[in-house]
Amino acid sequence: MTTHSSRSGLIDSSLVEDMFCLNDDIYFLNHSVGKMPRSTETIIKSSYLQPWQTSEGDPWPQWLTVIDKFRQALARLFSANAEDFCPQTNISSGLSKLLASLPLDKSRKTLLYSENDFPSIGFVMEQARRMGFETRCLPADLNTLDINLWEQHLHQDLAAVLIAHSHFNTSKLTPASDICQLARDRGIFSVVDVAQSAGVVPIDLQQLGADAILGSSVKWLCGGSGAGFMWIAPDKVESLKPLDVGWFSHRDPFEFDIHHFDYHQSALRFWGGTPSILPYAVAANSIEIIEKIGVAKIRQHNSALTQRLIEKLNDHTLNTPKDTTKRGGTLVLDLNTHHRDRILQDLENAKVRFDQRTLGIRLSPHIYNTIDQIDLVAEILNS
Ligand SMILES: Cc1ncc(COP(=O)(O)O)c(C=O)c1O
Repeated sequence: MTTHSSRSGLIDSSLVEDMFCLNDDIYFLNHSVGKMPRSTETIIKSSYLQPWQTSEGDPWPQWLTVIDKFRQALARLFSANAEDFCPQTNISSGLSKLLASLPLDKSRKTLLYSENDFPSIGFVMEQARRMGFETRCLPADLNTLDINLWEQHLHQDLAAVLIAHSHFNTSKLTPASDICQLARDRGIFSVVDVAQSAGVVPIDLQQLGADAILGSSVKWLCGGSGAGFMWIAPDKVESLKPLDVGWFSHRDPFEFDIHHFDYHQSALRFWGGTPSILPYAVAANSIEIIEKIGVAKIRQHNSALTQRLIEKLNDHTLNTPKDTTKRGGTLVLDLNTHHRDRILQDLENAKVRFDQRTLGIRLSPHIYNTIDQIDLVAEILNS
C-alpha cells in the first residue's frame, strides 16, 4: 500500500484508518494491545475455520501453511530468513526454553539482565537458578543507553545477556546492536526482547547482530495475543538443545520412533508438541499489514506525534528520552502537579486511553492516531 508522509513525518491517518477497527476514543495503549485489523474475522474464517469445516482429510496441511505465512511475514518485517523463526506462545515461555537450551559451561554460569526489563524477564531468570545458572541484575538507575555501562558489565563469567530493545517503563531504546557486538566478541549469548520495538522501530536482524530475539505480536504489530516468536541466529541453532520438546521439534515429526529424538535442524527445535494455529493466523495477517504500511513510516509518524506532544507540554516530568532516536514508541509522563487527579479525570472524560506505571502515564500513538488527538491531549495536560 502507498501512504504519503508530509514533511513533518506525519502520515495521513485517513489512509490507514479503514484498515483497523477504531472507534471514537483516543487510543494510546498500543504498547499493550494494538488495534485489530478489520480483515481479522475474514482471515480467521478462511485460514482456520474453513479448512476445519470443509477439508476432506484433516485440516493440518492447510493449517500448517498458516505457520509458514507467519514465519514469512516475520522474515520480511525483520529482513531475515523465515526458517530462523519459531512460533512461541509468549516471551516468558520462549526465554525459559532458550535458557534451558544453552550449552552448560562451568566458567560461564551468569545471566545478566536489568531491573528495567519487564518483570516476567526477572521471574524467568530467577527460575533459571534451579538449572545451575547465577543471575546478575543491573540496578534500575544505571543508564542502559550508555554502551560503556555494558562494556563494564559484560564480564567473561556471563553465559547470556538479556537486552530489552525498548524498555516498557521508560521507552528508552538501548543501543542493542552495539551491545550484541560486544557480547559476541566476549562469547556471551545475546537475547534481545523486541516486545516494545517490533512494529514501531525498524529492525534489521542482520544489522542487529543478536544471537536470539524474542517478541510478541500483541502490541505494535496489532496481531492479538498468543502469537509470540523466537528468532535464532543460524550459526547458533546447532549449539542449542531445548529441554522442552515435542514431535514438532523433531527433524522428522513423522518418524514415530519413541526411542529416537533428533532435534530439528532449524529454530523449529523450539516448537514442541502439536502447535496452536489460530493466534498465528491472526498475527500473520496483521504483521503483513504492518509490514506493507512500513515500519519506517510508522516510526516517522509516531516520532512526529510524540515530538509534538513533548514540545507542547508546559510542565510534567518526561521519563522518556527527549531525543527521538533514543526512545521507542511510548511517552512516559509523570504528572507532577497538584491538578494531577483532575487531569487524569479529564483525560478519561475525553476518552483518552492510557495506563499508568511507576514512572507515570504511558501514551503510545500508532499509525492510526492523529495530530488532532495529540493536540487535544496536550491541551488537557496543560490545563
Ligand atoms: C518489554 C516487554 N517484554 C516482555 C513483555 C511480556 O512478555 P510476555 O510475552 O511473556 O507476556 C512485555 C509486556 O508488556 C514487555 O513490554
